[in-house]
Amino acid sequence: MDKKTWWKEAVVYQIYPRSFQDSTGSGVGDLNGITQRLDYLKDLGVDVIWLSPVYASPNVDNGYDISDYRAIMDEFGTMEDFDRLLAESHKRGLRILMDLVVNHSSDRHPWFIESRSSVDNPKRDWYIWRDGFNGGCHPEGGLPNDLRSVFSGSAWEKDEKTGQYYMHNFAAAQPDLNWANPDVRNAVYDMMGFWLDKGVDGFRMDVIDAIDKPPTALAVSGGKADTCFGNPGVHKYLREMNQKVLSRYDIMTVGETSSVTVDTAPLYAGNDGKELNMVFQFEHTWVDHDKTLGKWKPLPLDLPKLKKILSRWQTALHGRAWNSLYWDNHDQPRIVSRFGNDSTEELRILSAKMLAACLHMMQGTPYIYQGEELGMTNYPFTRLEECNDVEIRNAYRELVTEKKLLTHEEMMKGIRKLSRDNARTPMQWDDGKNAGFSAGTPWMGINPNYKTINAASQVHDPESVFSFYKRLIRLRKEHPVIVYGDYELLLPEDEKLFVYRRRFEDTGLLVVCNFTPNRITGIDIGALRSDGDKLLIGNYRDTEPDEKIIRPYEAKVYLKN
Ligand code: GLC
Repeated sequence: MDKKTWWKEAVVYQIYPRSFQDSTGSGVGDLNGITQRLDYLKDLGVDVIWLSPVYASPNVDNGYDISDYRAIMDEFGTMEDFDRLLAESHKRGLRILMDLVVNHSSDRHPWFIESRSSVDNPKRDWYIWRDGFNGGCHPEGGLPNDLRSVFSGSAWEKDEKTGQYYMHNFAAAQPDLNWANPDVRNAVYDMMGFWLDKGVDGFRMDVIDAIDKPPTALAVSGGKADTCFGNPGVHKYLREMNQKVLSRYDIMTVGETSSVTVDTAPLYAGNDGKELNMVFQFEHTWVDHDKTLGKWKPLPLDLPKLKKILSRWQTALHGRAWNSLYWDNHDQPRIVSRFGNDSTEELRILSAKMLAACLHMMQGTPYIYQGEELGMTNYPFTRLEECNDVEIRNAYRELVTEKKLLTHEEMMKGIRKLSRDNARTPMQWDDGKNAGFSAGTPWMGINPNYKTINAASQVHDPESVFSFYKRLIRLRKEHPVIVYGDYELLLPEDEKLFVYRRRFEDTGLLVVCNFTPNRITGIDIGALRSDGDKLLIGNYRDTEPDEKIIRPYEAKVYLKN
């Protein structure tokens, strides 16, 4: 059996501080706003809060470009506000996970300002600098090689001061740190100690699988370059980080690792505990992406494919490593608009609950992204000006303006379905001014559906999406089978139903989820049930006596005790 630990039994809630609660009327969420809402989170029943970055930042990528790792972003408040948030959280038994963004810094970080100042500056080697190919006078523009940025275009930016190029996996304002330099690593470890000594409870590690760059990604060739993600050398650094920092504290760590596979997950998050506690895998988030145009050309959901991916992660990691479970985060669209159905209120509520049950009954630590517990939906973007995200803007420029691979309408369709900004609109607290998010002008548009979809209308309604999440969280605390049980997928080829079983000692679960707006007949749930089991939770008020009928977006979980 998996060794018992608190972080395996915990449920995490992610806050994107900019969009959570504004306490000053600036239009931007802040730390005191979060502190004001801690009782809401306590009521929901979560154990850990993951804060997206709250450090000083020029906000090219909304805090994922850090200019001072030991200071709080002005817009979010002060270090005293942070200390109060931490203390108030701990008082309520809530732990705080910080976002650790150390693959890159901001180009305004003093380290980079020094680094770019001259080729022989002592901090030059803290970042990754290369000559252009052929000394920079190559017809292709002299780029060292064809390495691409995740945010479109080349990963190399020429710096006029010295004529060399620096490497950035993300925006040009996010230069990658050079982890091969021990001084960089030690500076990062010191900074981690600063936060841990303050009492924070762990880290979510941003793109941590990219910190080790293979020489074949950085070679000056004028041509092909390998990816920086998932180079095996990353494990050497994570082991060092674990020995020097993580192992000295009782904390929780989760790595954001888009390159991880079921084969490499045990290295990062194996039961031997040499690196991290768990990782975020990405495979299920790509299931509806086009092969070449990615998220900008959404595909319909292929349920057998989704089931295959999630089930592979469930079975491969059981007893060996630990899963993270998520549908949403600040980089993903809203799940109810993605794999669920937001076309009517009734279907939105049913499908939001179904998706929650489907995920929360699996093995791993579940993550809830702010507003997911209300069934918040995607935003009806029609103009590029409504979008803020650097990823969207860069992709629009490349795919629509420059390469003309998509029309404006096609791109907007992709943005509405799968872009990150869907997750970043302000939290919908109530049906009052600006959805209760801010007394000023919100930094980003509020979803016009806030009059119907908001926290105030849900917290006291036993039938709400919020109350359903609350029950799922409580059930996880009551039934060890949810945390520690094994997993078996049933009906793998079925295109409408996601059905699986969990087993732990003498107990078991049967989870049945209808991913369609149709009534399904013909599958006999009665035949799959175990003797003496009982309905533990379902998303319909009544039960359907005919076990051969499964209603639109129905979710049912049976427990055998
Ligand atoms: C991670 C973050 C994302 C950010 C990127 C660069 O993927 O989750 O929001 O843009 O890293 O830091």
